[in-house]
Amino acid sequence: MSAVFALSSVGFSYREGAALDGIDLTVAAGERVALMGPNGSGKSTLLRLLCGLAFATAGEVRAFGAPLTEARLTQVAENTAFRRRVGLVFQSPDVQLFNPTVLDEIAFGPLQLGWSRAQVLAAVDAMLDRFGLGALRHRAPHRLSGGEKKKVALASVLVTEPEVLLLDEPTAALDPRSRDDLLELLSGELVRGRTVITATHEMDSVAEIAARAVVIAGGRIAADAPVAEVLADAALLQRVGLIRGAGRRLEA
Ligand SMILES: Nc1ncnc2c1ncn2[C@@H]1O[C@H](COP(=O)(O)OP(=O)(O)OP(=O)(O)O)[C@@H](O)[C@H]1O
Ligand SMILES: [Mg+2]
Repeated sequence: MSAVFALSSVGFSYREGAALDGIDLTVAAGERVALMGPNGSGKSTLLRLLCGLAFATAGEVRAFGAPLTEARLTQVAENTAFRRRVGLVFQSPDVQLFNPTVLDEIAFGPLQLGWSRAQVLAAVDAMLDRFGLGALRHRAPHRLSGGEKKKVALASVLVTEPEVLLLDEPTAALDPRSRDDLLELLSGELVRGRTVITATHEMDSVAEIAARAVVIAGGRIAADAPVAEVLADAALLQRVGLIRGAGRRLEA
């Protein structure tokens, strides 16, 4: 299988300091990868590099066989082609949603791609149905609840069926039923054949959404192995803070 992403010795620093360091990672087409790590470990930063919203300050990120650089993405044709292939659902839907209604929000991507009116309406309806958002179609996205916003953000990316999906904590803020529905989507037909990279620290659902787990701690890769193997490594999970240690600091 060809590599969708190939990162070698990748580092990234914000003005405040380094967030990623020495990342070597190859993701093949069709893989389902979980990016696991505690708060602040660098998961969202890594997803931003993979979707070309930020650029490595050390090493090289390659996407679809070519370096993913700022220069490449400032060319309109390259940018359009890349954005068509890779979709990111942000951790915070507030960053993502900007249209006046839910309908416009989900239709935006298809309209950008030049779909016909009939195609757009059919695809939007299917997404509204899938996420149980029908009653909210004329509502303003910024005035929805947190979980409703998250669903609209997911629908607005999934509607164009990008071949690579980057999902940043997709089930955070969802109630148990919505969470189960989404996990079913993310393990079913909707993602079949696609490359899906999901940042999460939800240990109980990771096996449903990924076959491979990349554990990040302090901006570095601490483990890269089949999910079952990582989940069985209690010492690793405790060391990086993904499961509770013996002494819970907030307890008396
Ligand atoms: N916009 C930013 N400017 C400066 N520093 C940032 C910015 N975003 C993140 N950081 C820092 O970079 C590091 C990695 O953050 P990142 O958001 O990638 O972590 P994360 O693994 O996604 O965490 P979480 O589980 O809380 O979402 C943290 O130390 C964080 O404080
Ligand atoms: Mg994050």
